[in-house]
This record gives sequence, C-alpha cells and structure tokens, in this order.
Amino acid sequence: MRILGIETSCDETAAAVVEDGRRVLSSVVATQDRLHLPYGGVVPEIASRAHLAAILPVLHRALEESKTSLDEIDAVAVVNAPGLVGALLVGLTSAKTVSWLIDRPLVGVNHLHAHIYACALERAEPLFPCVSLVASGGHTSLFHSRSPLEHELLGCTLDDAAGEAFDKAASLLDLGYPGGPAIDRAARAGDRRAIAFPRMKLKAADSLDFSFSGIKTAVLYHCRGPNGRQPRLLSDQEKANVSASFQEAVVDTLVDRLTSAAERTQEGRIAIGGGVTANSRLRERLTDAAKRRGLELVMPPMRFCVDNGAMVAGLAWHLLQAGRVADLTLDVLPTSRAAALAR
Ligand code: KG4
Ligand code: ZN
Repeated sequence: MRILGIETSCDETAAAVVEDGRRVLSSVVATQDRLHLPYGGVVPEIASRAHLAAILPVLHRALEESKTSLDEIDAVAVVNAPGLVGALLVGLTSAKTVSWLIDRPLVGVNHLHAHIYACALERAEPLFPCVSLVASGGHTSLFHSRSPLEHELLGCTLDDAAGEAFDKAASLLDLGYPGGPAIDRAARAGDRRAIAFPRMKLKAADSLDFSFSGIKTAVLYHCRGPNGRQPRLLSDQEKANVSASFQEAVVDTLVDRLTSAAERTQEGRIAIGGGVTANSRLRERLTDAAKRRGLELVMPPMRFCVDNGAMVAGLAWHLLQAGRVADLTLDVLPTSRAAALAR
C-alpha cells in the first residue's frame, strides 16, 4: 500500500510516498529557513504564503522520485494538528483535493505522534512500546507510547519549547536561523563548563514537565547585561563557550527527564524525534545514558528528525489499518486546543 504524506505545520513544505508504513520511496522537503532568517524565528503569515508557493512542486517531486503515478496512491495523509493554523490549512486543503480527485481515503495525522513514528521508518525491529521524547521548535513533550496510535502524555513544556530556546539563544549570539544547528556547530569549539547556566527547577520534584524560559533569560542577561539592554561584543571563542554551556544545560534537562520517564514506566526502550533530536551532543549523551542504564535507544536518521512527509505517510498506514479514515470535513486544530486534547 502506497501512501502520500503531506506536512506543512510549521516552516517546511514536505511530501513523501511510503510503502506499507515503513519503506520510504521518496521524501521531499522544501525549507523556508532563508525567508525567516531576518526575523530569527518563524513568521506565521510568511510561512503560509511560502507553503502555497511550494506545495504543488513538492507534491510533483515526491510522486516523481518515488516513481508513483497519482492513481497508484492508495491513501492521502496529512498533518492537521498541532501547528500554525494558516500553515496547516495549506497542507490540509491540498490533501483533501488530491484525496477527492483520486477518490482515495484521507487520513489526518498528529504531528507529534508522527515525529515519534519517524523512528520506525526503514526499521525492521519493533519500536513500541517505548518512552518517547518529541523536542522541536514548537514542542517538548514526553510520552508513554504503547503503540503507533497510543501515546499517553507524561510531561510537556510549561513555557518555551527546547528548539525555541535554541533559536532564541542563537539569535542573541548573532548565529543566524535556525538556531539549533548553528549552536550545535559553534559549541564544538567551546567549553561546556565555561558558564554555569541554571538547570531547570520545577516546584514538584517528581514532575516530568519542562521549562526553558529561565535558561533563555540567563543567556539574554549574559549577552546583554542584567537589564538585557547592554549588548556586549562577544569574541568567537566567547560565543562558542556560551553555545556549549547553553547546549549542555538543555541537554542535561532532556536526558534527565527521558531517563526518569523510562524508570517510572519501567520501559526498556526510549525513542526520540523532532528537530532538536538532530543535536549531536544530545545524541552523544543519550547514547551514553542508555548504555549505562541498559536501555535500548532508538533515534531517527538525521533526515527524519526535522519535519518531513515520510513520518506522516508511515503513521497513516497504521491509522488506516485501525479504520481511522477522515472525510472532507476534517479541520485543523489550533496548537492550544490540540495540546489540551493531548493532555
Ligand atoms: O521538528 P522541527 O523541524 O519543526 C517543528 O516541529 O518545530 O524542529 C525545528 C527546530 C528548530 O527550533 C531548530 O533550531 C531545531 O529544531 N534544531 C536543532 C538542531 N537542528 C534543528 N536544535 C538543536 N540542535 C540541532 N542540531
Ligand atoms: Zn516538527
């Protein structure tokens, strides 16, 4: 069964063709990084317009590269929540149109669950049950994932997402957008013990929630003085030290929460997904922590960490098997409502 998967929830226009939930026949991603660069973050209106311009060429390429014609597509899957409303609408409307045109089922996919499913692509061994972490530009959530379709929320960020903190820190350091890869690169030349940035502390000691606004503010004060308004000229070495120290603080928190969740649920397998899980230090630290605790760690290949259509088409195969087919009344769920439903 060949499923066409479409993803436009944030700033990547993506489409892919995946066979039987695992075999990726094509995965095309058009990034909008250049358009958002001057703003240091995603501008929703710009994102929607760029999706409109990119969606048809991306769909054509995904079909072409998979050597699949439209009438060989068995179902059309699309992320309809959570994400930026205008951006989601472009993908949803395109998916509905293709589904109606070829008279094949339409499947609505949750973006966070798709990020976890990215670990199952091209993988022969089982992935579920596991404890999973989705860390991206818009989300930081921990789940107890019992199957591709059953994800119990264990904790999530109470303020900023991990990726948002990376983007903000990079912008304060003038490293460009997206900030994650820039900090990751700069940190290689830095000393991670140079600055003792605060580790997150929540009121409930056993909480599996996250908070990244404190570290973001600490980087702001470090770079711009105690009132945040006196920019200091930092040398490349100082920027590398801030990057490495900031990255270590965020990674500490992510590793701590994920391993605590595995302990609490007694799961022996952990999986990660979302743009931040492309971070080299996070992958290194998690590999180490998993080895020491005897946990199996599953990480998606780099190209499936960031937003892509393959994770959407892959997960949709399981939704279809479970009869979870949508119709043309399918709507997008704004971020806050989708998050509330996931609780
Ligand atoms: O999953 P994704 O492509 O989109 C969302 O669903 O948000 O994640 C994008 C986020 C951005 O904040 C970006 O800075 C971050 O992932 N990111 C990274 C790295 N690569 C991308 N963060 C840390 N280290 C990286 N290497
Ligand atoms: Zn994402």
